[in-house]
Amino acid sequence: MTTEIRERAGKSKDIIKKDGKTFFEFTNRTTAFDGVKKDEFAHKGEICCKLSAYWFEIMESEGIPTHFRAFVPPNTMEVKHLEIIPVEVICRNFVAGSLLRRHESGDAVPAGIEPRLGAKILDPIVEFTTKFEAVDRPIDHEEIMKNGWLRREELDSIAECTRKVNNIMKRRLSDKGIILADFKIEFGKNSAGEILLADELGTPDGCRFWDLDSYENGEIVSLDKDVYRYDKGDLSDVYQRIYQRICE
Ligand code: TMP
Ligand code: ASP
Repeated sequence: MTTEIRERAGKSKDIIKKDGKTFFEFTNRTTAFDGVKKDEFAHKGEICCKLSAYWFEIMESEGIPTHFRAFVPPNTMEVKHLEIIPVEVICRNFVAGSLLRRHESGDAVPAGIEPRLGAKILDPIVEFTTKFEAVDRPIDHEEIMKNGWLRREELDSIAECTRKVNNIMKRRLSDKGIILADFKIEFGKNSAGEILLADELGTPDGCRFWDLDSYENGEIVSLDKDVYRYDKGDLSDVYQRIYQRICE
């Protein structure tokens, strides 16, 4: 008899351990603002799973190691077993979200950046936040190292890898008329100590996607979870459309 162990991995995914293998199940659960908003949306898990598989395969073909092993339809993927590094890595090409909120509550924005929704950031920012705290907060390199989570050279290689992932996704999305405003990624370590791209990738849960034509006409049209965060439209509908634009 095979036993299956299921546990929650973050707010929208479950991890399943079965026959010595590890699987990520993408559910329809949706949360925002550290769990303040919570709902379920049809097809969301399936769409985020298919999009992650799509992007992980692209990264592997570009020489970036990931935890992806196989897509198991409709909403599961087999992954390599990793120990997740307890930081989230955020990369920003345009001003939005918490960068703007932090500025509005008194923080200075980094030099050379206009604190306006939609302003372009010429040299993309890579920043870190905590992962396992009740409310994720920005964390600097010194604290990450002091906590023993990463060594300096690991931090540098994660930042460099994040910039590579950014360039690959940005270029491919731009060919489809989509702006990659920002995104979040996570990394994990395998038993050999190698760092691999983990979690999910290139989904409307973890990225801000904006329609390029609308942006050029002075309007930001979100094709991502911001439609749910800010009540701007139907999530299932928007996720279906972005999936078709990226993958079909
Ligand atoms: P932020 O502007 O709220 O910091 O978000 C930056 C990007 O990271 C945005 O594309 C959404 C994504 N993100 C997550 O995927 N999970 C999170 O918990 C947070 C805070 C952001
Ligand atoms: N995913 C996070 C949460 O559940 C934050 C967000 O995406 O807004 O709160």
